[in-house]
Amino acid sequence: MLKVVAVNSSNRKKNTYNLIAQAKEIFKNNNIEVEIINLFDYDIKNCIGCEHCITKGGCILKDNAFEIMEKMKSSDGIILTTPVYLENVSGKLKTFIDRTCSWFHRPELYGKPVLLMSTTMGSGLKSTLNYLERVVIQWGGFNAGKISRNIRTMNNVVTEDECASFIKHLTMGKDKYEPSLQSLINFQVQKVLAYKLIDLDSEYWKMKNWNNSIYYFDCKINIFNRLIARNFGSFLNNKVNKPHTKNQKSE
Ligand SMILES: Cc1cc2nc3c(=O)[nH]c(=O)nc-3n(C[C@H](O)[C@H](O)[C@H](O)COP(=O)(O)O)c2cc1C
Repeated sequence: MLKVVAVNSSNRKKNTYNLIAQAKEIFKNNNIEVEIINLFDYDIKNCIGCEHCITKGGCILKDNAFEIMEKMKSSDGIILTTPVYLENVSGKLKTFIDRTCSWFHRPELYGKPVLLMSTTMGSGLKSTLNYLERVVIQWGGFNAGKISRNIRTMNNVVTEDECASFIKHLTMGKDKYEPSLQSLINFQVQKVLAYKLIDLDSEYWKMKNWNNSIYYFDCKINIFNRLIARNFGSFLNNKVNKPHTKNQKSE
């Protein structure tokens, strides 16, 4: 049975949770088990900006963030959800996302489909979902559907159709996936920065054998997008210099 984790970032089990609960039933009928993680049940401390996770590896804070990240890593797919708060994600979700900073450098969720969900009273759905999509791409995953509701004006029934793309991406072979140009460009940016800036990142990217890759895994890539991404990667690689070490004289 496929396993999915749904990250719920509202303290209330109301509008957003209602979408998750309905989708969970639809997924159950398709042999997909959903574990709901209510972020408010977990101790997630604020990132203190020490950069330990980036430069040395691992986080010095002791709380539940790592446990949630491990659950996400071992899942087949992720449902990432938030109510709109002041035109963006809830503070609880942002606090958690900050704690995944190492994944922005060493994208551990590569190949995972992510379904995004959000609810609002009126505004901010588009910007909130766009922000989450950018986060997911940085994590190495990809957006496989969006379910959103303005709870004042839209009916709140989740349909099979809205879940279909996520189910398709969970069940089809990875080789059939076609990454967007944005994902391919992002891969090139992350690769160049990894190789040029931080030793730990370049070791990780080498270990993954992504040096000459166009994406994290073999899949369908549009020939024009491939060309654009490769050229962009070469251009960026020539532009970004390795920082001077302490022993080097600056000119
Ligand atoms: C702190 C806070 C900020 C909010 N900001 C917005 C907003 O910017 N735009 C909006 O239309 N609704 C806003 N809302 C309303 C929520 O997005 C909406 O009620 C949502 O469906 C709540 O989801 P929940 O029931 O899962 O908590 C806000 C609500 C709260 C509590």
